[in-house]
Amino acid sequence: MNIQVKRTENLKEKPSMDHLGFGNIFTDHMFIMDYTEGNGWHDARIIPYQPLSLDPATMVFHYGQEMFEGLKAYKNPQGDILLFRPEKNAERLNITNNRICMPELPVEDFIDAVKAIVDIDKDWIPEGVGNALYIRPFIIATDPFLGVRPSLTYKFMIILSPVGPYYKEGINPVKIWVEQEYVRAVPGGIGFAKTGGNYAASIKAQANAKSRGYAQVLWLDGIERKYIEEVGTMNVFFKIDGRVITPSLTGSILEGVTRNTVIELLKTWGISVSEERISIDELIEYSRQGLLEEAFGTGTAAVISPVGEFRYKDQVIVVHDGIIGELSQRIYDELTSIQMGKIEDKFGWTVKI
Ligand code: COI
Repeated sequence: MNIQVKRTENLKEKPSMDHLGFGNIFTDHMFIMDYTEGNGWHDARIIPYQPLSLDPATMVFHYGQEMFEGLKAYKNPQGDILLFRPEKNAERLNITNNRICMPELPVEDFIDAVKAIVDIDKDWIPEGVGNALYIRPFIIATDPFLGVRPSLTYKFMIILSPVGPYYKEGINPVKIWVEQEYVRAVPGGIGFAKTGGNYAASIKAQANAKSRGYAQVLWLDGIERKYIEEVGTMNVFFKIDGRVITPSLTGSILEGVTRNTVIELLKTWGISVSEERISIDELIEYSRQGLLEEAFGTGTAAVISPVGEFRYKDQVIVVHDGIIGELSQRIYDELTSIQMGKIEDKFGWTVKI
């Protein structure tokens, strides 16, 4: 793929990288590439970070035909730039695109585009544990048209944001509200796809949870409101009586790259890990019996986020006395050390730019 580069003449002043939040600072450049039916993907370019000018009838504004991905770049102690399993994001992008009728993007083009934009803005990669350069690739439908059908034109873009922890709690446990009123996804829907509609569907419950003092919601399945699916921006894991369980992928759960990574890590450590349907009632019962040892969420943005408390109806389930468990800490340490190139990557997960 040939990428034209137009560098900015006005480099932004970099903010202090000490207390980065999540997703409110953007770098100097962006990647953009167009798709036109019959012509495929074309005109890959890197340009100064700037607003878009779009017709008000642009389809993405009306019917939400869009997708996004999330991955991170890190600097290792030698100063090399590392990506973590970018091919997984490229593969998931195409799974999403297939579901919402958007054109496929070759895996190599995705990776080349990510490498090129990160390389140009590499001075924005923050150092420090828990910090990274968050990479947000996304595709929008751009036909100016009000009928409902797949668009014939699209834009694929990548923007970059230096970030710290997603939750203000950092690696400290978060409190989670188990949602009963709203559902995020249903079988046959788009729950497994990384598309904005899933997040739009989640905002109301998320806002309600926040106003009650909870960081996120735990979603139950859309049919029986019984089986545990995922947490707002993370997949979820439980350590129960020595073994680890995460909900199986039923079609309404996002297949997280970190979820897959944690499963692989646990297997190599010889810790029993299984993907199973687990109901909220079973979880409460395990907790009552003293068998619920740890709970944590996994995600690119959230990394590993221990859960200290679940609230379900009028029941409060406290996990590991509200403090991080040993296994959650071990996974966090190992994962972040591999991602930041501090220990050997025996799995071949990191990709040097
Ligand atoms: C990620 O973890 O990369 C995500 O896409 C979650 C996002 C909604 C913050």
